[in-house]
Amino acid sequence: MKPSIELPEYPQEVEDWWWKQTVQQWPDLSEEKILNLIRKEIVLQSDRFNKTRSFDPQAYGSRELSILTYGNFFFPRTWKAMTLALSEAYSFREWNKPNKAPIRILDIGSGSGASGLSALFLLRKFNIENSISLDSWDYSGKSLSIQKNIHRGCFDLWNDTQIKTQRLDLRNELPPQKKQRFDLILLGYSMNEILQNSDLNERVDWMKQILGMLSTSGSILIVEPAEKEVCNNLHETTAFLSSKEKDVFIHAPYFNGAPCPFFSVRTHYYSHEVRKISSSALIEKINNPLRLETREVKFGMTMVSKLPTRSFPQNSSQCRLVSPVRKKKGTISFIGIALDGNEYMYEIQRRSIAQDEAKILSKLERGDILEIKKGEQGKDPKRIRINQFQDISWPFAPRWKRE
Ligand SMILES: C[S@@+](CC[C@H](N)C(=O)[O-])C[C@H]1O[C@@H](n2cnc3c(N)ncnc32)[C@H](O)[C@@H]1O
Repeated sequence: MKPSIELPEYPQEVEDWWWKQTVQQWPDLSEEKILNLIRKEIVLQSDRFNKTRSFDPQAYGSRELSILTYGNFFFPRTWKAMTLALSEAYSFREWNKPNKAPIRILDIGSGSGASGLSALFLLRKFNIENSISLDSWDYSGKSLSIQKNIHRGCFDLWNDTQIKTQRLDLRNELPPQKKQRFDLILLGYSMNEILQNSDLNERVDWMKQILGMLSTSGSILIVEPAEKEVCNNLHETTAFLSSKEKDVFIHAPYFNGAPCPFFSVRTHYYSHEVRKISSSALIEKINNPLRLETREVKFGMTMVSKLPTRSFPQNSSQCRLVSPVRKKKGTISFIGIALDGNEYMYEIQRRSIAQDEAKILSKLERGDILEIKKGEQGKDPKRIRINQFQDISWPFAPRWKRE
């Protein structure tokens, strides 16, 4: 299948940078011993992300081992998730960079910089020539200084960019608003930690302060772990915000400013992407005894802006895929949230498509946006029949560029 946009792979320079720091940290240990230290720390960090969900400044941003483990193993994943989200803002939604003026990016809860640095890298790969400044905020001073070192150490990946870091507890002390606003505000896997245990009103008030820092044509991109409660909190917060505030519009993941339909109803699905990613030899070596999932990244995302959304017809002719593509009983089917904000089941008969076409459909990913040219509604209005493969196209289906 021809992707709607090709994305640059995670740079080898950054992977090498992390590994070099790791080896320098323990010059007397063998590689296997270092790998074992990292493996043990991965188990601790995975439990913290997935089970205990308790975070404090000591959580993983204060010890060398925690930071290096994150850098070698988790950093490439959050980097890729933000790359996917930004590619959507850039290629399918209405994020417009300033004409010639510098682009100002703010990374909130930046840690060692996976989200902000991935944005610098991607914008340069898209041949955007404006100078770019990145402001990174986090309460882990060590992570922030690592971020500065990566920025300096791999500068060829993001020429003509500057970085400024600030150490802050973002739950309690968002800095006073200056006149200058940001063109992109990124929150990569950080909102759920910063706003841990806060209620809807607190989350909405916090978001209002963040909106105060956004330029009129800027966008906020939020990426969160694909955990049901975390994604529900994210979508509930933006839904509430856009319904209460005059100039707040939800641009993604769905259409026409519609909120996510899932957080208030019981369904099999919830809003998150499931994207294939490649894994490096180093990651596989680390992961070998752990057997964690390394070839997929799952995340919930949203994009919010002060500008109204693009206006699509209120129907089922485009949708975002929210289920796996299923093959059964002679049909291929999938669930999508359509332009009108409703959930539909789309179906095509296997006998009406060729084998290579079926293979292409099986490669569609959760998060892809599909256009269905001539879908037919049957007795059940929520079931759309597609007659032929040629009626399906994919205005947003990003894929990694093969090097
Ligand atoms: C899962 S990490 C994500 C880091 C980075 N954004 C990325 O994409 O990889 C969450 C980050 O949020 C930061 N964080 C959590 N609570 C915070 C708070 N109250 N104030 C500042 N930073 C916080 C942590 O230090 C950590 O760097």
